[in-house]
Amino acid sequence: KNVQMTSMPQMVSIFNGLGGLSAVFLSFIELYKISVLVGEISFAYQITLIFSLFIGSIAFTGSMLAFAKLDGYKWSEKLTLPFQHIINIILLLFTILLSYFYFLNSSDFNYILVILVISLVYGVFFVAPIGGADMPVVISLLNSFTGITAALTGIIFSNNVMLLGGILVGAAGTILTVLMCEAMNRSLLNVIIGGFSSSGKSSIKEHEGDIKEISDSDFAVQLFYSSNVIFVPGYGLAVAQAQKLCKEIQEILEKNDVEVKYAIHPVAGRMPGHMNVLLAEADVDYSKLIELDEANQNFKSTDITIVVGANDVVNPDAIDDKESPLFGMPILKVWESNNVVILKRSMNPGYAGVQNPLFFKDNSKMYFGDAKESLQRLSSELKNL
Ligand code: TAP
Repeated sequence: KNVQMTSMPQMVSIFNGLGGLSAVFLSFIELYKISVLVGEISFAYQITLIFSLFIGSIAFTGSMLAFAKLDGYKWSEKLTLPFQHIINIILLLFTILLSYFYFLNSSDFNYILVILVISLVYGVFFVAPIGGADMPVVISLLNSFTGITAALTGIIFSNNVMLLGGILVGAAGTILTVLMCEAMNRSLLNVIIGGFSSSGKSSIKEHEGDIKEISDSDFAVQLFYSSNVIFVPGYGLAVAQAQKLCKEIQEILEKNDVEVKYAIHPVAGRMPGHMNVLLAEADVDYSKLIELDEANQNFKSTDITIVVGANDVVNPDAIDDKESPLFGMPILKVWESNNVVILKRSMNPGYAGVQNPLFFKDNSKMYFGDAKESLQRLSSELKNL
């Protein structure tokens, strides 16, 4: 109840990590029973327990590190070692080797202790190289890991509820991970290796041309005399918490017979459904939200598209520039509308770290400032008309 909407990914991460930790405890105790108390047990049972211990440990430490990254702890970005991916592969092979030795001599519990330590370290190293803003994808992946461990624990304890719950979480987490990667046009491997990070370090291609700014009064007058307007919300809307002002402007325009819609890109913001949640918080009617394909059909007949803190999801290079890291990502073709006004604070790039040629197009105008303050100015101007 007390967690802010913007901190939901952190909360999900902690919950997920604790789910993984529970699976670690359960399989650890079972393995202890086998090695020290019971003795011989079937190979399938042992392999299930070791797998559950390994995946649960990754889900635990990986999720805790994901939490730290999302919450902005500086140390969490400095845990990557040189040749990290090679070290990770070695740790993985070492775990398999130790598991094999344990199967040969399952009364030696020391193998399990070493496997546990390596798995916990592996969880940290697995998440360490991944860019902070890729965390939602990783959390979804770790979530599916926790589902798998819960399902495995369900098998161990012959508990159908755990088994079913685990399968549901595991499958849903995997599907969500795949969908997010597809919507970003990136492979899971690319995300895990850290293809492009949040830091905006990747190459910023210079774009020729001048940008044009629009004044408060011109913007308000243009909106006032238009017949249809589309808002395109992005990550900046979440940062500025400007959703209620979007709704306020929508209401002013609708009173003046302007039709208003919101175009929602599947990976706008930083978590699945981010924009839907923000707009729902501002009581925007669900019927006003249109998805990518429908929006792209609508832009040609739209008078003004207002881009509020979105950048990558409206970058034409995703279609035009094969060299762009965004190339191939489905995007909102906002430039097809008669006019585009872009609300952001500066010319800084978005998450992918690349400049956006949209800003230099003939029908584009910039409206600089924090989205909340900008929309506040616009709203006051509209009220004065
Ligand atoms: P971005 O490309 O990240 O761009 C956001 C823009 O908002 C920035 O250019 C920034 O420019 C502006 N901004 C930031 N704070 C602002 C404020 N207070 N007021 C006004 N503007 C502000 O966002 P997007 O278009 O939503 O794209 C999302 C990106 O995140 C995609 O690349 C996507 O692949 C990635 N991603 C998404 C997800 C999910 S599941 N949604 C998960 C992981 C990664 P200024 O600094 O100049 O203001």
